[in-house]
Amino acid sequence: MKISVIGAGYVGLTTAACLTQIGHEVFCSESDAGKLHKLQGGIMPLFEPHLEQIIQQARSAQRLTFGSTEEAVDRGQAIFICVGTPPLKNGDADLSAIEAVARMIAKRSCGYRLVIEKSTVPVQTGAQLRKHLSVHNTNRLEYDVASNPEFLREGSAVVDFLHPDRIVVGVDSGRAAGLLREIYGPVIRQDFPCPVHAKCPPHDPPRFLVTDTNSAELIKHASNSFLAMKISFINMVANLCEVVGADVTKVAEGMGLDPRIGNAFLKPGVGFGGFCFPKDLQAFIRIAEKSGCDFSLLREVEKINERRIEHFLEKVRKELWVVRGKKLAVWGLAFKPDTDDIRFAPSIALLKALVEEGALIRAYDPQGTAKAKEAVPDVTYCSNPYEAAEAAEAILIVTEWDEFRALDWRRLASLVERRLIVDGRNMFDAADVTAHGFQYLSIGRSAVLPAARASATAEASSPMVTKA
Ligand code: UGA
Repeated sequence: MKISVIGAGYVGLTTAACLTQIGHEVFCSESDAGKLHKLQGGIMPLFEPHLEQIIQQARSAQRLTFGSTEEAVDRGQAIFICVGTPPLKNGDADLSAIEAVARMIAKRSCGYRLVIEKSTVPVQTGAQLRKHLSVHNTNRLEYDVASNPEFLREGSAVVDFLHPDRIVVGVDSGRAAGLLREIYGPVIRQDFPCPVHAKCPPHDPPRFLVTDTNSAELIKHASNSFLAMKISFINMVANLCEVVGADVTKVAEGMGLDPRIGNAFLKPGVGFGGFCFPKDLQAFIRIAEKSGCDFSLLREVEKINERRIEHFLEKVRKELWVVRGKKLAVWGLAFKPDTDDIRFAPSIALLKALVEEGALIRAYDPQGTAKAKEAVPDVTYCSNPYEAAEAAEAILIVTEWDEFRALDWRRLASLVERRLIVDGRNMFDAADVTAHGFQYLSIGRSAVLPAARASATAEASSPMVTKA
């Protein structure tokens, strides 16, 4: 099918690329001239595993073209709207980009169009889209509007698109549902050349769930808000564990064994970030408020998350006594591993607070450095974790990159001023870290001293517990 994708952000680019992989001819538009120029020149504007390879192949097979929104409207019978919906000051999603696209579709298109909203939008946006398409429908054409929320995680977006658990389509006609079933046919049947695995392991076919548009829109916001709630919940349990001397890893494991709870999204840490959870949570709270529903539960989820950085900083301050003038290594800047995205990343709030307190920061991230430099310039950015650790009085782990799991501990120990790791992501087993002579502070687990120092202080101290 000839499909257009409007907006070449994480969602749009992944959607466009993966649609070519399942046999469609795709035209992808981008309104940012600089970004469009890059894409037309074969340069990736963002890092996402596997995406570059799929885009290169699709471009050379002439299955993927980049250009203007006008061309996108002209070319695609199905149009996926993947434009940004950033938060306004009051927490509402800014839908101006969606409105502009709707107006252009209504004024320009010269035949039937299936208009699919993929950007995360508040409930009833589909209804507004429908209304605006008919208001500006100068050519008296037929349209269908569908909501097809994305459930792509940055860092595994390609796999999530091609091997999803579910495909949700909110439609108001059998024709729209039929077209979407056709578009996703190869994914539903799981029969396409997988670009990720040479020998693709068998995947269960996803559930194709057809609903009305309002319900599909709510599924997206409710899913993200629920996941955010799980994270804030376990973060509060972690605080409690620190006070009473329990191990949050074990508590989460025990909880997760109940299939009604499940073990996913029960990892405590410095809080959730990225461009989805914080913004979607805010938008969902606003939607509930405007609808007269008291969803203050979600306000608490937000507040708990906002307090995570301060909680982490308290650990650092308590251990270092004085922060001003001390060299600190910060490992990890991206809001999570396998992405270069630093939007609403906990690292940014942490760096700003530490710089403000007068710490001398040396930071490292495998992908996020370029973007972090723009956000927080008063930091020395390093090209590997060892360089960042030089003369450090503490290493602060903010993002759990795999690279940090394969450390040369001896080299690290010889570089630092003080062997102290404050791990905001619980990457390590305490025994492993202390065996290398480091003191280890993590989240929701007792602080652990290296073996030698532990025996020297054994008499004096009860288990070191960080107060929540
Ligand atoms: C999230 C959802 O997982 C996707 O399903 C959704 O499509 C996407 O938002 C979106 O709305 O576009 P993403 O933001 O890429 O995906 O990242 P996640 O993997 O969900 O992680 C979000 C944040 O939660 C990260 O900062 C991560 O470190 C944190 N997190 C996650 C925890 O602190 N603990 C956990 O147990 C899991």
